[in-house]
Amino acid sequence: MPHSLLKNKKGIIFGALDDKSIAWKVARLVKEEGGDIILTNAPVALRMGEINKLGEELNSPILPADATKVSELEDLIQKALDHFNGKLDFVLHSIGMSLNVRKKRHYTNQNHDWTHKGWDISALSFHKLLQVLYNKDALNQWGSIVALTYIAAQRTFPNYNDMADNKAYLESIARSFGYFFGKNKKVRVNTISQSPTRTTAGQGVEGLENFLNFSEKTSPLGNASAFECAQYVVSLFSDFTRKVTMQNLFHDGGFSTTGVSREIIENF
Ligand SMILES: NC(=O)c1ccc[n+]([C@@H]2O[C@H](COP(=O)([O-])OP(=O)(O)OC[C@H]3O[C@@H](n4cnc5c(N)ncnc54)[C@H](O)[C@@H]3O)[C@@H](O)[C@H]2O)c1
Repeated sequence: MPHSLLKNKKGIIFGALDDKSIAWKVARLVKEEGGDIILTNAPVALRMGEINKLGEELNSPILPADATKVSELEDLIQKALDHFNGKLDFVLHSIGMSLNVRKKRHYTNQNHDWTHKGWDISALSFHKLLQVLYNKDALNQWGSIVALTYIAAQRTFPNYNDMADNKAYLESIARSFGYFFGKNKKVRVNTISQSPTRTTAGQGVEGLENFLNFSEKTSPLGNASAFECAQYVVSLFSDFTRKVTMQNLFHDGGFSTTGVSREIIENF
């Protein structure tokens, strides 16, 4: 049942690719909670066409932007400010891609051009986005910016490959830029560290199905679904979390603080 948590709030959702995407679920829930959105993704993702269905369903404009290109981000943010005829209240960065993962290059034998590209897309794009939002003074006071991450930033998960390093960098940006956004704009910046989830990006990780089961059996509350992640994102966009900033927030059913569970031990 909707609660109008985001009534009169306006924002941009990056990264809805298809109906499995976490950003797709966030977009739907934000709308249900009374928010108004612009959808964006890389031009190549827009050409795939799936996102048009979401745009029609939600009656939301879809604007292209490659998140690694500052000029395209500037164009996007300006268009969003013009469209809403005012500043934004929330932004979701739900972007990730590793060519080493996709092309099955082992962590110990990376193609560093691919590493660089993946880092630009998955991590540096967050700094580029924040910098454009900051310099354009694009957010209202008590606005909220969220990016999605994974616990491989803190602990080793060998199959996560160079995405682990990208996520560590991403989380650090949220703290570093979060300071300036807090101090000078009264805007919060956080990352949500989500359970493994069956999406296009998630499926690139080798052995995902076994890992999903391991994670499910380790977490006292079980894995968090994409929809539950959307609910958490909405709470961070709402006025109920105004003083939460510069945090990496685990949304993982307790996985991050569980050493081992009974179910896992019994498998041995
Ligand atoms: N699926 C999981 O298990 C999981 C777990 C924790 C965190 N996350 C994170 O959640 C976020 C969303 O991923 P998802 O699982 O919904 O998968 P997804 O594949 O649906 O979303 C990834 C998105 O990144 C977009 N993207 C790629 N390159 C881009 C670029 N240059 N410019 C703009 N957008 C670009 C893609 O088009 C896609 O929409 C990612 O940051 C991912 O790392 C995923």
